[in-house]
Amino acid sequence: LKKSDLGRHGRKTVIVMGGGIAGLTAAYELLKGGYDVTVLEGRGRPGGRNWTVRGGDTYTDLKGQTQTATFSKGQYMNAGPGRIPQMHVTLDYCKELGVPIEVFTNQNADAFLYRENVPGALNGVPVRQRAAKADAYGYTAELLAKATDQGSLDQYLTAEDKERLLTYLRSFGAIGNRVAGDPAASFKYNGGGRRGYAPQPGAGLEAGTPIPQYAMSDLFASTLGNYFSFEMGFDQAMMMYQPVGGMDRIAYAFAKAIGGGRLRYNAQIVEYNNTADGVEVVYTTPSGTKKAVADFAINAMPPHIAAKIKSNLPTAVVTALGSVSVTNAGKIGIEYNRRWWEEDFRIYGGITNANTNLANMWHPSYGYHSDRGTMIGYYNTGGNANFYGNLTPPQRLAEAVTQGKKIFGDVYGQGITASFSQDWASTPFSEGAWVGWPGAVGGQTGAGYRSLLEATGNVYFAGDHLSHAIAWQHGAMVSARVAVESIHARVTAA
Ligand code: PHE
Repeated sequence: LKKSDLGRHGRKTVIVMGGGIAGLTAAYELLKGGYDVTVLEGRGRPGGRNWTVRGGDTYTDLKGQTQTATFSKGQYMNAGPGRIPQMHVTLDYCKELGVPIEVFTNQNADAFLYRENVPGALNGVPVRQRAAKADAYGYTAELLAKATDQGSLDQYLTAEDKERLLTYLRSFGAIGNRVAGDPAASFKYNGGGRRGYAPQPGAGLEAGTPIPQYAMSDLFASTLGNYFSFEMGFDQAMMMYQPVGGMDRIAYAFAKAIGGGRLRYNAQIVEYNNTADGVEVVYTTPSGTKKAVADFAINAMPPHIAAKIKSNLPTAVVTALGSVSVTNAGKIGIEYNRRWWEEDFRIYGGITNANTNLANMWHPSYGYHSDRGTMIGYYNTGGNANFYGNLTPPQRLAEAVTQGKKIFGDVYGQGITASFSQDWASTPFSEGAWVGWPGAVGGQTGAGYRSLLEATGNVYFAGDHLSHAIAWQHGAMVSARVAVESIHARVTAA
């Protein structure tokens, strides 16, 4: 918004309920338009799930377990969001707010894939992603080329199409040519340099020796190839970015732009009501219970938490808020006194993915070649996140190390100088990682979801849960902008 937009309509007041990314975006945009804004935030910091943990930070979960992070100076873990796709409006806010960004490596050909409890020779074998991909593409190309060449697809392809497809498959899979009179020997995938060398190409006469390919049956039995769709996801494809120094640089930049007096931390909302000419919000603070009144409110709290707060909103709206399904996610940051993933494995950033309870291990995309580094030892969701969440922090580290050693060996347990684990289900003011809209309530076209896209009296709703970018800061931001625009349209229409 632009300040002049408000004009003769006067200085309207808005209470923003929740200082997560949706609430911060809403407050920031409202201020641009000349609104009088107060943000009430339960935590002692801005950002909500956007949370970066550094040495000295102390955190107590809903079970009463307290952790104090002992990460070294310069080391951090993003406990919540950690990666930003290029097309997300999150990057526009980084630019506008002066938050420097750097590449986040979401895909690294030299990171590992690990699958256990699968049939065949690759059971329990850490495999470089480039090797699995070369073999998966190679064998798929070989089979499709054979089928094409032998006429099995004649019903779908003209003779010209067939030659074009074969040309594409030779490039895609690094397969051989047609061998005249020998269909079985034609279009063979025989491995090659794509999958890696031992020894590597070197000086003089050292041409390098490609590491032999896995057998086709073992490769497909391993399920390794099923991972490659991840990097093609609209919001997971490289390039991706992160703020320099931690994701919370975004939250703090918003907070600075909004201004200290307008952001009230440790303000826990206990009741909110529509009144005859506005809203009232009751909240507790360390210095007692307070009440704020304003023309409008934007409720930017997680819906399942908002649903538990006393209000005079219609039952149907409260029911809609509470009808979401909540997903859990967990992360552990493990600081090592040596960047062994770089030194021993030549992995510089990226993700190792496993079908164990670890799910994803993030090699840090910052601080390369420095004297220490912090791995995300697991980033998991659902049942795996609940499993770790039900352990104590020391037990989480022990289990993560046991699992990590299967992939990286004993080095995974050596030189650990700090760790911090986050379980979103047991996190105050979050009680989960993100939500979904069950089909049983009509998903994101049902009456409940739609009701939250409209004002209820003078109360508006915002959050990633009211977008089609759930579990992304982008979703929170665009939803907040819609709420701000709705308020402004109403004010200026009056
Ligand atoms: N944005 C989160 C992430 O990048 C959650 C998410 C995962 C969302 C996968 C969509 C797809 O991990």
